[in-house]
Amino acid sequence: MKDIRTAPFLVEICRTCDNMYRLGWDERNGGNISMLLDESEVAEYIDVNAEGRVLETKFDAAYIGGRYLIVTGTGQYFKNVSVSPETCLGIIKIAEDGKSYKILWGFEDGGRPTSELPTHLMNHIVRLKADKNHKVVTHTHPTNVIAMSFVHTLDEKEFTKTLWRMITECVVVFPDGIGVLPWMVCGNEEIGVATAAKMDTRRCVVWAQHGIFGSGTSLDEAFGLIETVEKAAQIYMMIKDSEILQTITDDNMKDIAKAFGLNVREGYLD
Ligand code: 13P
Ligand code: ZN
Repeated sequence: MKDIRTAPFLVEICRTCDNMYRLGWDERNGGNISMLLDESEVAEYIDVNAEGRVLETKFDAAYIGGRYLIVTGTGQYFKNVSVSPETCLGIIKIAEDGKSYKILWGFEDGGRPTSELPTHLMNHIVRLKADKNHKVVTHTHPTNVIAMSFVHTLDEKEFTKTLWRMITECVVVFPDGIGVLPWMVCGNEEIGVATAAKMDTRRCVVWAQHGIFGSGTSLDEAFGLIETVEKAAQIYMMIKDSEILQTITDDNMKDIAKAFGLNVREGYLD
């Protein structure tokens, strides 16, 4: 077996957690990441038939039955992931019937996956149905997105259009728009169902006064999407109380959409 610390997926998830921590998005244990892995990727580093703790998914995850994921642990700090990946991360395999999963590697202090695992798994299911190349779900607490959720309407179309107007390339990065959920109790199936209901046609959902979920075909894609939303929210928070002398109009965005061949969310541009 090769040393798992050299596995590209492990190296990259550690780098991503470091980056996010340094951006100030993941205070304490805030945030969590999960990434689908192929058996061939995992089998180079761990015994995929090893015994391990079995825990319930508490919902039907049969659509991803038999799949492997690397996931951050509940209560673990992003700042510690690259220092102690064996404790802060785990590799799990979803049972074929989707009712449970087995911990094959990691969580060495007896820990378990993030409390947001239901939302992660439900999002993986809806995103895989929308895009067979989907791989990553990332949750984090970006400062300006949270701030914006206090002072901006939570209407999804208005929220999305405000963000699109903040940087020319926002509509290029997320033409599918941003889903928004009002404040809810986190860490349970209910918020998972509500998030997944929005993620089926979008890759990003804001949880008001809490944070954001982003998805993508790689760690970079999910991170880059959230990074773009957060930068747009930062600009909004900087300028919202200033006199606006010029902006990006719907016609401008239609021109960008035409130039870049974008599939902009239906009904969002006048
Ligand atoms: P976990 O420590 O369980 O991953 O929770 C962090 C978090 O951000 C909850 O929304
Ligand atoms: Zn959170």
